[in-house]
Amino acid sequence: MKGIVFTMLADMVIEKFGLDVWDELLTKTGDDGIYVSTETYPDEALTALVVAAHEKSGIPVNDLVRAFGEYMFPLFYKKNPSFFLEGQTLKEFLLTVDQVIHVEVRKLHPGVNLPEFNYVDEKDSELTMIYASPRKLCMLAEGLISGAAKHFNTEYKLDHSSCMHDGAESCELHLTIT
Ligand code: HEM
Repeated sequence: MKGIVFTMLADMVIEKFGLDVWDELLTKTGDDGIYVSTETYPDEALTALVVAAHEKSGIPVNDLVRAFGEYMFPLFYKKNPSFFLEGQTLKEFLLTVDQVIHVEVRKLHPGVNLPEFNYVDEKDSELTMIYASPRKLCMLAEGLISGAAKHFNTEYKLDHSSCMHDGAESCELHLTIT
């Protein structure tokens, strides 16, 4: 994961739990907490911080990762407003993530670790995002989708019908826009 992701995690923990707790998580995981935004750091370091946050707060890991995705979305928006087109709907935006946004992100940051999304788009008010990544961060995807829905002021229901954590090859994130 890029340093920017660690910095966003630090911001979230400090904002929600305070600087003392962030310092405690760093001590517990042996992390120095110094991140260069464009540099790549081991995924395990991020996992260790999330697990330490879970142990400290009692909040389930999945809920923490989802909350982190939701927190990240407005920060991504602030940093890259050009990825958002005037008048776009939530569904139109989500359809650009794999072939436009993440493609641009990869050009800007070679070596970035991004997931693959395939889409099933058969009905106006529905969309299935099929998520695949060796990092199995489907809960982060759920949180990012939730953050995007808030941004677009859109209500939706999500059915995470099959999941890599249950041995599936990919996760199916089926959205119904309500
Ligand atoms: C709802 C929309 C989005 C979804 C569902 C999504 C999904 C994800 C997921 C799940 C990851 C974690 C890596 C993995 O799973 O292998 C990720 C990483 C990332 N995404 Fe997206 N993303 C979205 C929007 C965006 C936007 C708007 C940006 C930037 C403008 C962005 C830039 C990135 C970056 C920089 C990473 C980190 C890669 C790294 O640290 O190596 N994503 N995305």
